[in-house]
Order: sequence, then structure tokens, then C-alpha cells
Amino acid sequence: MNILITQALPEAALTPLRTRYTVDIGSPSAPMPKELLMERIADIDGLIPTISDTIDASLLEKAERLRIIANYGVGYNHIDVEAATRRGILVTNTPDVLTDATAELAFALILATARRIVEGDRRMRSGQYRYWAPLDFLGTEVSGKTLGIVGYGRIGRAVARRGRAFDMRLLCTNRSPIDPKIAQEDAVTQVDIDTLLATSDVVSLHVPLTSETAHTIGRPQLVRMKPTAILINTSRGPVVDETALVEALKNGTIAAAGLDVYENEPSMAPGLSELPNVVLLPHVGSATVETRTRMAELAVRNLIEGLEGRIPSNCLNPQACKGACAGT
Ligand code: 8YV
Repeated sequence: MNILITQALPEAALTPLRTRYTVDIGSPSAPMPKELLMERIADIDGLIPTISDTIDASLLEKAERLRIIANYGVGYNHIDVEAATRRGILVTNTPDVLTDATAELAFALILATARRIVEGDRRMRSGQYRYWAPLDFLGTEVSGKTLGIVGYGRIGRAVARRGRAFDMRLLCTNRSPIDPKIAQEDAVTQVDIDTLLATSDVVSLHVPLTSETAHTIGRPQLVRMKPTAILINTSRGPVVDETALVEALKNGTIAAAGLDVYENEPSMAPGLSELPNVVLLPHVGSATVETRTRMAELAVRNLIEGLEGRIPSNCLNPQACKGACAGT
């Protein structure tokens, strides 16, 4: 069977695939051009794409032999799961293994924005640090402040854990009511989004991108936030109206933002990169050696399970199986 991996992944994790199938890797670094993927899709049985690959209905129409798309990542908004299901193609993702890495990065952005770490680094490198001054580089303490977590899933909960270690008061929103036991254990209070925005000193986004969550934070929401508030986004760019965010950061509606993702990634909204009160990262939430390796191992395991006729552990559409998989 033929397997296509669109971009190079940690090689050691690929051994189980290489011993079973013919494995082709699209590119050592850059994303695979869509036209090339279009050309290749008819001849492959298994695909491991990344967030850079748009797996839409027009591509899947050509996927004559494809049985499984084992996404390298937890977010799968770039894959038309419904179209895959209609064609009997399984889709899997890589949850859990990147929870801590992403929560760590969210916290890195919280501290970097609150304590102006990147601005300070720039000052040092420019040779402009000439003397110490009591009123220079004043940031804001996070200890004792309120952390508002939008989306209390695995990653949101892991961010809450880190917030507690920094003595922060915790608020969250969630699509459904969170288990009262979890709320008690985590010392988190579930509130509506307006309350969270109005009371939080730091708002951190942890929702998947869907038609319901697009522009969760736009101009009306930014206006509700405190002028001292910090917005952190490590989820998906379109969850924030980036043009409205630039305006809010420029005119002092909110104090700062830490972003790992962008509305039209890899582009940024005009003006964003000129602002001093933003910390900007190139989508590195899961970018640790440990996590990227575990993600590859999990994607490989999902792919093999699917090709061997089992429902993979992280299957998003078991209904695609049509009775051919064990356990259906
Ligand atoms: C991945 C991510 O690196 O898992 C996700 O949803 O956003 C990132 O951590 C990316 O999706 C790679 O495909």
C-alpha cells in the first residue's frame, strides 16, 4: 500500500510504516503544493497531512483508493470530515499528546506579554540599555489576577492548572456545562462569555475552529474587555477578528496580545507586526521534540490501525467504516 506524508516528520516514528508500506514524503520542510497533492491523491491508500494541507471535497473526489487520513495535529478544521465520511474514508487526529506543550506555550505568551519579555530582549540587542530606572519596563503581575479560559477542554484545563500555580483566579466558558466535580477540583468558575471578558485580566482562547467559534473575539467582545487586559490565542487564528484586534491594540481598548496563530496564516493583518504590545509566534504550540515525536507516533498508529481494518483510537468519523472495520 502507498502512504503519503505531506511534510517531513520525526523520522524514528515512521519505522512501523516503512516496514509495512511504501512511504513517500512530500517535502523536507515546505508544505506540499496543492496541485502536487491533487496529482498524488489517486494512488495512495493512507495520507498523513498537516495543517498546511487543505483536504476538501474536490481533492477527495480524486481519492480513489484512500482509506484513511491520519491528521498530524489535534485541530482538523482544514479537513472536510463530512466529505471524507461520505467516501468511506476514516479521519483521525492526535489529541492529548500536545496538551501540555500547547498549555506551556499559552503560559509563555501570558508571561511574555505581561512582563514585556520580547520588548526587553529587543532593548538589549539594540544596545539601548544604558542605565536602570525604577519606572522603566513596568509590566503587570499575573499573580492574584483573573485568568479567563475560553473553551474548557483538555488544553483549557491544562492552562488552568498552570494558572493555579501562579495564584490566578480562574474563570472559564464552555459549550456545555462542565462537571461540577471538575469545577471544584480545578477551582474554576464557569461563566458566560460577557462576564469572562469583563472580569478577566488575561483571556486565553482554547476552542476548536468551527462555524460557531469563528470571530468569538471581534470588536464587540474586545470593547467588553478591561483596558488593562491581555488576549492570548494559541487555538486557531479565525477565532479572533484580527483586524478588530489590531485596532483594539492601537487605541488602547485592551493592553496587549500574545498570538501563535493568525486569521490568514501565514499572513498577518496589516499593522499587527508594527505594534509594540504584541508577542507574535509562528504557530509553535506543539513544537517540542517530545510532542512532535509523540504526534508522529500517534498519527502512524492511527494510520496502521485504519489500514489494518480496525477503528483507530482517535477516529473522528467511525461511521465512515461501513462495517468493514473490526468493532463496527
Ligand atoms: C500542529 C496544531 O503542529 O495540533 C494542532 O491542532 O495546531 C499544531 O499543534 C499542527 O496542526 C500541525 O499539523
